[in-house]
Amino acid sequence: MQVFIKVAPVQKRINFLRVKGKTIGFVPTMGALHEGHMSIITESVLKNDVTVCSIFVNPTQFNSREDLLKYPRSKQEDTGKLAKAGVDILFYPNEKEIYPEGYGSGPVINLNSLDTVWEGKFRPGHFAGVVQVVNRLLDIVKPDNLYMGQKDFQQFTIIQRMLKEIKSSVNLIIVPTIREENGLAMSSRNMRLSSDDRKKAAILYKMLSFTKVNLGKLAISDIEAHALNEINNMGLKPEYFKIVRTDDLSEITEYRSEKLVAIVAAWAGDVRLIDNLLLY
Ligand code: PAF
Repeated sequence: MQVFIKVAPVQKRINFLRVKGKTIGFVPTMGALHEGHMSIITESVLKNDVTVCSIFVNPTQFNSREDLLKYPRSKQEDTGKLAKAGVDILFYPNEKEIYPEGYGSGPVINLNSLDTVWEGKFRPGHFAGVVQVVNRLLDIVKPDNLYMGQKDFQQFTIIQRMLKEIKSSVNLIIVPTIREENGLAMSSRNMRLSSDDRKKAAILYKMLSFTKVNLGKLAISDIEAHALNEINNMGLKPEYFKIVRTDDLSEITEYRSEKLVAIVAAWAGDVRLIDNLLLY
């Protein structure tokens, strides 16, 4: 595995491979890699001639400095995992490489309000930062295929919209969430959970599964109210639990046969968790 810190040499290397006719898969990450990341990476390794992975803890997508500082970092461990998984190129830039002086905030992209609902409401500016960095990274890597995890479903939806808006030819692939034994979605934030909160957090997947089983049988509002109640009773603090359309994340009030996803965000102690389950 080759490791690059600077933009120019990584671009040169990827261009060389592209000219040779190699397909390029790209997995952007913020490091602290867990099994969830590794399954996304494996998907890219299996389906592309060359896999590029980036590790960059992007400051512009954090709405609090405290959250940014608390974000786990494990460079050596991550590098070992990526090499073992068969990643060809690791791009590990610093902030100046990604946002050189005068870079600005990147292109203005109409996200059709996808960035202001749900996560966007609770984390204002978060998705502007995600769009900014993904756009910049795509500009550097220019992959054929971009891989993202289903766990951040809203992020996936927004990047899909971004690619459409900028008329990008990049193919976006969603990779299913990997779960711990009790159903908790794998996340870099889980390592900050106490063992008690880790157990309690299983309620999120339990309620998502309850939703899938009862969709079309119980009223939407009853399902959502029950889930919020159960999450509260478990001692977590839910921010939302909603059944929404997968394409525009809009709410539904009555069940009709369409592509839906249940989404949830809740605090377990001082750790904010999100999860979702496709309902089709
Ligand atoms: O999902 C993440 O880890 C980040 O939001 C991403 C896509 C790497 C952008 O910083």
